[in-house]
Amino acid sequence: MDGCGGAGLGHEHRSLRAAPRRPPTGFRAARPRHPAPTGSLLTAVGVMRAGRSFTLGPHGRPVSDRLRIRAPRGWSLRGLRWPPAPARRQPKWCRSACRGPLPCTPVNPEDPKDLVRRGYDLLSVQYERAFGSETKYGSWIEDLLGRLPDAGAVLDVGCGTGVPVARSLAAAGHLVTGVDISGVQIQRARELVPGAEFVRADATTLAFPSETFDAVVCLYALIHIPVEEQPALLERIASWLRPGGWFLATTGHQSWTGTDENWLGGGAAMWWSHADAATNRSWLLRAGLEVSHEEFVPEGDSGHVLFRARRPQG
Ligand SMILES: C[S@@+](CC[C@H](N)C(=O)[O-])C[C@H]1O[C@@H](n2cnc3c(N)ncnc32)[C@H](O)[C@@H]1O
Repeated sequence: MDGCGGAGLGHEHRSLRAAPRRPPTGFRAARPRHPAPTGSLLTAVGVMRAGRSFTLGPHGRPVSDRLRIRAPRGWSLRGLRWPPAPARRQPKWCRSACRGPLPCTPVNPEDPKDLVRRGYDLLSVQYERAFGSETKYGSWIEDLLGRLPDAGAVLDVGCGTGVPVARSLAAAGHLVTGVDISGVQIQRARELVPGAEFVRADATTLAFPSETFDAVVCLYALIHIPVEEQPALLERIASWLRPGGWFLATTGHQSWTGTDENWLGGGAAMWWSHADAATNRSWLLRAGLEVSHEEFVPEGDSGHVLFRARRPQG
């Protein structure tokens, strides 16, 4: 999510979170699909001369390496070597976030949301390094805490790792639900913030009963959702708020949709889509919210807009 707009700033800004400014390019083809691990080539079922079948395990080791094998009907064992070739190294873009059990699934090159999901799967740690020391969240969270009832229900849309927002709110006794499209972000959030609930989902597919939450937070995530889907999402968020409930969000400051092929230098692409500040403000109003605060939040030579909006009482 990107961009707040200090209305009236008459020059271009450039964001560290957003890609470098350039003419809109739209969505570009993603990188190749995740290749099948080498081991999967070696899991073919073989048949021993004696007629018994066996399976080559993940490392290609059959029951006995002295047995000769022939391919069963429909299988080709051409290229199978014994001893097996050393495992190929994983491609660079898949190594940082694919260790151990962390979920990382192939990207759908037709879907920009899938590019975003994969980008955060791969860059979760780099993102934390780049932005984890930011202090500006502190006053935003403090302000929100002062507006919530005891044990308030809060939804964090695009929660990332849950730090600092979900963690701070949960520590203050609030009932926090975090939603994120990235499986790696959600897995890390569950480890880092055990006191909150986390759900992996595309925010635009969420459904909650109306008047479920005392507050909804959406920081730097709306900017990754296709701009044409944002007004409808804002309307649904407004409906989930209880009367008097608060919406805290950062949005784009200037209109832009595009891709950075190597975001944060981490070897993975990222995609953004956002409208300008005035458009975001109009969407909030159309969703039935009252905008009580709007502030340009500079970042690098660009920035975002922080909105605080409220569902009217009764
Ligand atoms: C820049 S990070 C911000 C994380 C957190 N809100 C914060 O401020 O630290 C944006 C997050 O939004 C998530 N996101 C992007 N598109 C999403 C979508 N369609 N549904 C849910 N989460 C999404 C990303 O996976 C990522 O974790």
